[in-house]
Amino acid sequence: MSILSGVNAFFGLDIGSTAVRLVQLHGTGMPKSLARYAYMPIDSKIALSDSRNDQQRLGQAIAQLVSQAKVNTKNVAVGIPSGRVFTTVADVDRLSSGELAKAIRYQADALIPTPLNESKIDWALLGDSPADQTKVEILLSSVPNKFVESRLDMLEAIGLNVIAFEPDNLALARALSAQETGVAQMIIDVGYKGTDLVVVGDGAPKLTRSIPTGMEAINRAALQNLNVDEKQAEQFVAKFGLSKDKLEGQVYQAIIGTVDILTGEVEKSIKFFQTRYPHNKVERLIVTGGASVLPEFPLHFANKFGLNVEIGNAWRNVQFAADRQNELLAISNQFGVAVGLAERTE
Ligand SMILES: Nc1ncnc2c1ncn2[C@@H]1O[C@H](COP(=O)(O)OP(=O)(O)OP(=O)(O)O)[C@@H](O)[C@H]1O
Ligand SMILES: [Mg+2]
Repeated sequence: MSILSGVNAFFGLDIGSTAVRLVQLHGTGMPKSLARYAYMPIDSKIALSDSRNDQQRLGQAIAQLVSQAKVNTKNVAVGIPSGRVFTTVADVDRLSSGELAKAIRYQADALIPTPLNESKIDWALLGDSPADQTKVEILLSSVPNKFVESRLDMLEAIGLNVIAFEPDNLALARALSAQETGVAQMIIDVGYKGTDLVVVGDGAPKLTRSIPTGMEAINRAALQNLNVDEKQAEQFVAKFGLSKDKLEGQVYQAIIGTVDILTGEVEKSIKFFQTRYPHNKVERLIVTGGASVLPEFPLHFANKFGLNVEIGNAWRNVQFAADRQNELLAISNQFGVAVGLAERTE
């Protein structure tokens, strides 16, 4: 063991709408092994609020989580919720790396929705543009400075040192996609507030989106259409999901309209991706997040699109003792973002 091990240690932190989650891995090569993980449920009103008071309470919850988990580093890579990030693929001239950075900065203003001087932008080179041989394509993202600064303040106030911010979608792609070339895979994380979507083609994330339909909307549909209270509505959804033969299909009937708003958006994204990358067929759909465990939810997507649908395994690139398999798989659907952040290599 190196005497310097620990110097570069960090952990991944997912600040979700219903829970905060952390993962720390160790080792240098791939796969890394699990050092620790932890989560703590939080009130979604706090997680989604920008008020100072709520940010402080969120900070306290994170501080408690970090201390309970006995994390041995202050360095943290933090996810940015997809709803706060704007991401796009753009074609730029083939230039040397120094010139490329300048050219992107120059072009970015026209590509992002917020003023450049109020946004933090970042980009990754994807490769040759499929549309124009003289150009390369980049993945460009931007986040409002205000959001990044308030997250930074909150995390620094509890003594953490932020080494990276990364959009949740990109972390998901790292944790959940299979290494495949020639074909594309779509990952959807159906969380509480909304759904994150990312298409990985030839090993790189090439399309990301956030869709404002998630478990909150599905539960609300159940509440409105079934004659039950809020708690019962949630229980019915969790227990019967999209099965048509339970309770005479009443739960299915109550939520299918909302679920199909989501499938409609997923379908648009598949079409959009195939238009730009006709030779990179989307062959597989990987589902994760709260809704992925609802009965027959993955099956519904499989029938709708005729794709292979799998439930994502957040730990697929992580080594751990065999006797922890069940414990880890039970929470896999909520750990994609935190694991992906912890798997970062730079
Ligand atoms: N095993 C499960 N069975 C039934 N419902 C579940 C299960 N796990 C999570 N959920 C439900 O999923 C929702 C939370 O999903 P998830 O953990 O993906 O959200 P989040 O990451 O906190 O939110 P977001 O990603 O939108 O910020 C809640 O409504 C929760 O009740
Ligand atoms: Mg989430």
